[in-house]
Parts: sequence; structure tokens; C-alpha cells
Amino acid sequence: MAANIKNISIFLFFLSLISQGYCKPCYLSNLSVKQTKTEVQIQGKPEWLVTITNNCDCPQSQVILNCYGYKTVEPVDPNILTYSGTDYCLINVGQPILKQTVTFKYAWDNAFSMTPNSSQITC
Ligand SMILES: *[C@@H]1O[C@H](CO)[C@@H](O)[C@H](O)[C@H]1NC(C)=O
Ligand SMILES: *[C@@H]1O[C@H](CO)[C@@H](O)[C@H](O)[C@H]1NC(C)=O
Repeated sequence: MAANIKNISIFLFFLSLISQGYCKPCYLSNLSVKQTKTEVQIQGKPEWLVTITNNCDCPQSQVILNCYGYKTVEPVDPNILTYSGTDYCLINVGQPILKQTVTFKYAWDNAFSMTPNSSQITC
């Protein structure tokens, strides 16, 4: 009898581990934004490759980055990045980012700081 209760509690313990494993919470911080300098110069300005990755298992949509002062001499596809003209950049016209990596390139004298500002997480 005591052994049965012990087995059941072990079973429940593993069940809780499994269910936690299936619904890991997602945060804005699970979006990573990396920038690297390419070898290319555009109109005498260095080109920067930006890679945005969503590291969580749930889609994140309406992804907005802080990109204060953003400028580029290299045109960027507005379906990938739209600059508000002030502080924000909308990624993918708000379409969800799941496992795919979003990349774009821009060119300016310096790299602009780009960090996630907000997103809608659907789990
Ligand atoms: C998501 O972010 C949280 C908190 O920063 C972290 O604990 C978790 O490991 C991240 N998940 C993934 C899949 O990167
Ligand atoms: C988002 O932008 C607003 C206005 O610039 C700022 O106050 C807030 O701290 C930003 N949030 C994050 C997470 O960067």
C-alpha cells in the first residue's frame, strides 16, 4: 500500500516535469538581435548584418525593436523592417517570428543599438 503511494507520487513528479517541459514560458528576452559588420562598403559606409532569432517555442508577433536614430544608405526591404522615424523599428510588418531567422543589412558609419522593445507572445 505504502509502496503504491510512493509509486504514484514518483509518477506525478515525472508528469509535472514533462508538462513543464512542454510549456516553457516565453519572454521578450528570448528574442536575440545580433549585428555583425560585413566586408562590404556601401557609399563609403560599412554594411551591418542584423540577425533576429526567436529562441522560444511560441511565435512572437508585432516585434518592435528600439532603434533610435536609425539611418541607412542601403535600402532595406520594408517587409522586413519599417522605421517609425523616431525610436522604433517594426520587424516583418508585425508578422510572427517563430523558428525562422530574420535578417537584413543596412549601411551607416556606425551600428545602431537595436534591442527588443515589445512583442506579442502567443503560447
Ligand atoms: C527565455 O528567456 C528566459 C528568461 O530570460 C530563459 O530562462 C529561457 O531559458 C529562455 N528560453 C530559451 C528557449 O531561450
Ligand atoms: C520601449 O520604448 C519606450 C519608449 O522609448 C521605453 O520607455 C521602454 O523602456 C522601452 N522598453 C524596452 C523593453 O526597451
